Amino acid sequence: MNVLLTGGAGYVGSHVARALAAAGHTPVVYDNLANGHRASAGQAAFVQGDVADGPALLAAMRDHSIEAVVHLAAFIEAGESVVKPDKYFRNNTIIGMTLLDAMREAGVAKMVFSSTAAVYGTPRRACIEETDRLEPINPYGASKLCVELMLAGYAGAYGMGFAALRYFNVAGADPTGGIGEDHNPETHLIPLVLQVPLGKRASIKIFGQDYDTPDGTCIRDYIHVCDLAAAHVLAIGAIEPSRVKVYNLGNGEGFSVMAVIEACRAVTGEAIDAEPADRRPGDPPRLVASSRKAIAELGWQPKYPDLETIVSHAWAWHKSNPDGYGDR
Ligand code: UFG
Repeated sequence: MNVLLTGGAGYVGSHVARALAAAGHTPVVYDNLANGHRASAGQAAFVQGDVADGPALLAAMRDHSIEAVVHLAAFIEAGESVVKPDKYFRNNTIIGMTLLDAMREAGVAKMVFSSTAAVYGTPRRACIEETDRLEPINPYGASKLCVELMLAGYAGAYGMGFAALRYFNVAGADPTGGIGEDHNPETHLIPLVLQVPLGKRASIKIFGQDYDTPDGTCIRDYIHVCDLAAAHVLAIGAIEPSRVKVYNLGNGEGFSVMAVIEACRAVTGEAIDAEPADRRPGDPPRLVASSRKAIAELGWQPKYPDLETIVSHAWAWHKSNPDGYGDR
């Protein structure tokens, strides 16, 4: 299948493009390079364009005979979304309609949407199921939930088919090399912790040590980016007309910020200084997925579920690419 990936030159997008190609599909990367890296698209077809640009999207879909879209382009920082909600609702939500309308015009009826665990807000139980309440506590989560609701409308009215994948905390890098995480600025925990042994920062700040968790720090469910990418390939095959299928993607196990720092110490063999800091606005104390539905319905089976493997693949990427893509 010819698949257009918006945000395909980003961290997750580059891994999804590689997984699609390995499964015999033809990925076409569509990215404005605001945060993506041209080099991460490798040999895949590349179109530099913005999701806000409907005519450019339509042309890309027609030129490449696109049959499905993976929509990854988005701003992704929950903390920033609290102080800049306009940026998140405009880019992540309103612009999403431009893409849906271009798809309708081009006759492209399938989309995998990159959604987030942030749609749940502060969960009411230990392991979150897809049917749990959707009560985002930051504009980032709300901006993604709005798109999920739009998808339901488009599925019902126009017969389009969707899979919405609710990512938990994505980390690691393709162990075969060449692609990995490179955000500027970096805000995610694992790459930031690894900057300490790389000599790029003196210590890691722990945002909040007074949460209602066993060691007082926030708990997250870390998923290997290659396992996440594999789920996109399966999801494309599972899309049905007039339906929105929703799947959590995590490993069902929570690790505190302290536990992640410990895992980074074990993998790198370095001491890694950590210092207490204030809570970061918009952070729920604990987010852990039940991914039973993805396992049962998609046949998804994570290859790298353990945290040390995830960290060691991230470490291999950062060690060989200390400046990321160096803006290639
Ligand atoms: N953290 C620190 N110090 C840091 C950076 C992060 O203590 O320097 C903490 C955060 O406060 C949080 C945890 O580490 O408790 C994880 O933070 P990340 O920024 O790595 O990830 P988030 O959980 O905020 O968000 C990520 C994605 C979102 C997604 C969410 C789902 O960025 O897109 O996971 O869980 F919605």
